[in-house]
Amino acid sequence: METSQQKVIGAAPEGAADRDSAARAVREMFSSIAPRYDLLNHVLSFNVDRLWWRRTARRFQHILRRQDARVLDLCCGTGDMTFALHGVAGSEGGSILGADFAHPMLQRARQKSRGTSLGWLEADALRLPLPEASLDLVTAAFGFRNLADYDAGLREIVRVLRPGGEVGILDFGEPSGAVGKLYRVYFRHVLPRIGSLISGVEGPYAYLPASVERFPAPEEMLRRMRAAGFSEASWTPYTFGIAGLYWGKK
Ligand SMILES: C[S@@+](CC[C@H](N)C(=O)[O-])C[C@H]1O[C@@H](n2cnc3c(N)ncnc32)[C@H](O)[C@@H]1O
Repeated sequence: METSQQKVIGAAPEGAADRDSAARAVREMFSSIAPRYDLLNHVLSFNVDRLWWRRTARRFQHILRRQDARVLDLCCGTGDMTFALHGVAGSEGGSILGADFAHPMLQRARQKSRGTSLGWLEADALRLPLPEASLDLVTAAFGFRNLADYDAGLREIVRVLRPGGEVGILDFGEPSGAVGKLYRVYFRHVLPRIGSLISGVEGPYAYLPASVERFPAPEEMLRRMRAAGFSEASWTPYTFGIAGLYWGKK
């Protein structure tokens, strides 16, 4: 019998029956919206996404500015979190790699990064082609929630981090109180309509609020982080908890 500890929790786009079909559906979904992804992000978040990426990057300044630091931005999409990390690292900072499994998203990141030292890797976050204990920092912005198995994703991050290495997972939350009520109306009803209209694709922007509702609450997520092997873990809400940063240390 399955206990709640063993239950696999991860993204489950409509119609996906198992981990592989969920991952495939997520990859196809992001590939389909890649051409309009940046525009939609900024419109739908009123540009607040930029502040969240920068705030997250600043949190890891002590690692990013080290010349010997090796950094991976998981689920990098078109690369905006990766660019924010690069901005904080500066030209003397560590080496930064962005990874994603949706080819069209990564292609855009590559185009946008011409002339920088950033590297890009097409890879599944659940099976990274990287040696264990090889990284000082792993970040993921608005991508971790889409993994087909959160615990497997956390274990893979722990595997590639060096002892003492850190993780930063930036993702949406569910704010409470009056802000929460207002936000839920926007997120469930307004955002999917605008998203579908601009992208010309129906599914992804209906999936977005559903995936946030499925995502574990902060206490549960922190418990999972510790169970996966992080010795310390914390959550910092951003903008009334609309988003938040999970921080962990191996
Ligand atoms: C909402 S986008 C976020 C992109 C970027 N980090 C940002 O903040 O704009 C989520 C990204 O996660 C990627 N992704 C989802 N599951 C993944 C997996 N298992 N392995 C690699 N990338 C994945 C998707 O392809 C997509 O590009």
